[in-house]
Amino acid sequence: MRHFIQETDFTRAEAAQIFALARRYKRERGRHEQPLAGQTWAMIFAKSSTRTRVSFEVGIHELGGKALFLGVNDIQLSRGETIDDTARVLSRFIHGIVIRTFKQDDLAELAQHGHVPVVNALTDFLHPCQIYADAFTAAERWAGPAGDLMASLAGRKVAFLGDTGFNIANSWILGAHLFGMKVSLAGPPGCEPGPEISKLAGSLGGCFHYTADPFEAVAGADIVYTDVWTSMGQEKEAEARRRRMLPYQVTAKLFAAAKPDALFMHCLPAHAGEEVTQEVLDNPRCVIFDETENRLHVQKAILATLARLRT
Ligand code: CP
Ligand code: NVA
Repeated sequence: MRHFIQETDFTRAEAAQIFALARRYKRERGRHEQPLAGQTWAMIFAKSSTRTRVSFEVGIHELGGKALFLGVNDIQLSRGETIDDTARVLSRFIHGIVIRTFKQDDLAELAQHGHVPVVNALTDFLHPCQIYADAFTAAERWAGPAGDLMASLAGRKVAFLGDTGFNIANSWILGAHLFGMKVSLAGPPGCEPGPEISKLAGSLGGCFHYTADPFEAVAGADIVYTDVWTSMGQEKEAEARRRRMLPYQVTAKLFAAAKPDALFMHCLPAHAGEEVTQEVLDNPRCVIFDETENRLHVQKAILATLARLRT
């Protein structure tokens, strides 16, 4: 049974196939095959979501399947039923689980005790669907309509600014390694990439560069990326975070210090005036809504791949 819990659950060759399939699904939307026909996929969400929920529900529908949305408070998990039993129970009914929750370990446990593919729709540790869609968005531009998407990423540099110690930053560390890219992260001391991601990246042979200087991180960057300063679950720290992260705001001046044709990316939701200025969001090289749309195409390719590998 294959799962998509972290970026490197697919090999580089498999990820290249996923990108190629996503490109075809995008081109043939409404006309392509439906590999999830007759299937029902559970979507367990313990946190808010706009993009992830909608893109998965629409994507599963377009692949011929049915999405069953399960807010975590609606199921017995919130009343103490174990992850193990939840996995065993759901496996008797459904064909796959898409889950957004806090602890990355819960996904490993679901995968271990269930008999269906598990897809990570965001944890505190990683957001792999996002990073695949982001890399695909850049590759589409760099490879053109017929070029090799994965090859177009090789050697490119992504600069991540802001909260360098949480899910999106961690996912870029793994994603950059898988896609053959370089990653430089700049954030305030105390928010550095943590020991867990450093150990995981090290065990995979990946490396990253961390600096407290935002201009050092963006020098030579092909992508300038940021995320909210206060992630879901950190609301009590919002004011302190705003103060500490202000030097890492993506301003027009900071964006201009990257390559002249660099793209600006953000997973969204964005807070203009906090992690990024409105001027940068208005720049024609800001591709945030292409990233959003590509969540649909790339996730459909991921689901179809997991369904195919199951048989
Ligand atoms: N980028 C992202 O995952 O957005 P949502 O939280 O709206 O799903
Ligand atoms: N770091 C953010 C990402 C939202 C898509 C969060 O976890 O809230």
